[in-house]
Amino acid sequence: QDHSDRIAEILEAHQGLEGPLLPILHAVQEAFGYIPEAAVPQIAKALMLSKAEVHGVVSFYHDFRSKPAGRHVLKLCRAEACQTMGADAVADRIKRALGIGWHETTSDGRVTLEPVFCLGLCACGPAAMVDGRLVGRVDESVCAEVAK
Ligand code: FES
Repeated sequence: QDHSDRIAEILEAHQGLEGPLLPILHAVQEAFGYIPEAAVPQIAKALMLSKAEVHGVVSFYHDFRSKPAGRHVLKLCRAEACQTMGADAVADRIKRALGIGWHETTSDGRVTLEPVFCLGLCACGPAAMVDGRLVGRVDESVCAEVAK
């Protein structure tokens, strides 16, 4: 579908703001759940940036996704404190259980798996976020929570 009208509104709302690219991208992702491919040239033109510059920012920040997410979003903390609590092994088991890797969505559109860097729950690592809800001491049983 065509997102350009909504994106134009977002661009207009951020006019004159200093360093507008990140707030604009956040607003676009909030509006659509992801950054549509067609948004990149539209934003680039409005901010007089190259498409590559906008692309670079979208892919640099883990918060932005370039495809729609699944019905559930499972974020696993990959920062240091959680790593010392075995986050990598848990992530491997969850990836195997879901059959997907980072930034991927199961083929039935059920769940998207994303890395995140510190959720402020370091004391209860490994930490995760399930649809915006914090979960401590996560293990592969979390897969049951995103089974629908
Ligand atoms: Fe994982 Fe802080 S390092 S929550």
